[in-house]
Amino acid sequence: MAKNNVHRMSAPQAEITSTAIVPYDTAFARDVALIANKSFGEGYMNEDRLKEVTGGQGSFYSSVTDGKISGYCFFQYITADLCASKIKLPKETFVQNSSSDGMVCYTKTMAVDESLRGRGVADDLFEACLNKAVSDGLFSAWGSAWRLGNIVPMNRIFLKNGFCVHSEVPYIWYDDKQYKCIVCGGRCKCTGVIYRKLLLS
Ligand SMILES: CC(C)(COP(=O)(O)OP(=O)(O)OC[C@H]1O[C@@H](n2cnc3c(N)ncnc32)[C@H](O)[C@@H]1OP(=O)(O)O)[C@@H](O)C(=O)NCCC(=O)NCCS
Repeated sequence: MAKNNVHRMSAPQAEITSTAIVPYDTAFARDVALIANKSFGEGYMNEDRLKEVTGGQGSFYSSVTDGKISGYCFFQYITADLCASKIKLPKETFVQNSSSDGMVCYTKTMAVDESLRGRGVADDLFEACLNKAVSDGLFSAWGSAWRLGNIVPMNRIFLKNGFCVHSEVPYIWYDDKQYKCIVCGGRCKCTGVIYRKLLLS
């Protein structure tokens, strides 16, 4: 998928010619980890973690803007059990929305290079991942989005793609001792807003 530059913000932005959404490739790992850590905080992502995240079943895309990696979006297909442990809600919540092989789609992580935000790159990345999850036959998709005070940066993207707010989970990422949250300046005490979409109607 290729897309011409879309200007959404009034502030001056660097000229870009085009952004393409392409399947994630391990050759992108270094650039993707850099974008992730700048966006979320040190220790959030490294090449080993990337292997873990993208090594299983899922829908994994990157964006390439004028020849450079500009963002990524990763959806993992995981068991209801694993999703319950990540989202910290009862397993039954996910079991009843899992496909016949017991899997659900978990919208694991997305970030766009700071200098290229506000141009629709995240919209395109998310759409590519969601379309693949639907065509792969997943029954439901779940995401936990960062709440920064009153703002949830992912809110518009989830709602535009037919997700609803399911619940909120405080301290959702606190257990990850390696991760130093860019907002909390240490272990993450942020709240996650949980979104859900049923993919098969
Ligand atoms: C959130 C993020 C991925 C959006 O990327 P982007 O390419 O700038 O987003 P887009 O230009 O495609 O915008 C998509 C929609 O989200 C909205 N949006 C984007 N960034 C936002 C923000 N920081 N706060 C609130 N809404 C935001 C846009 O207004 C747009 O909605 P609209 O079409 O109704 O106007 C990017 O800001 C980012 O990487 N942030 C840091 C990491 C992060 O928060 N990731 C999500 C963690 S759960």
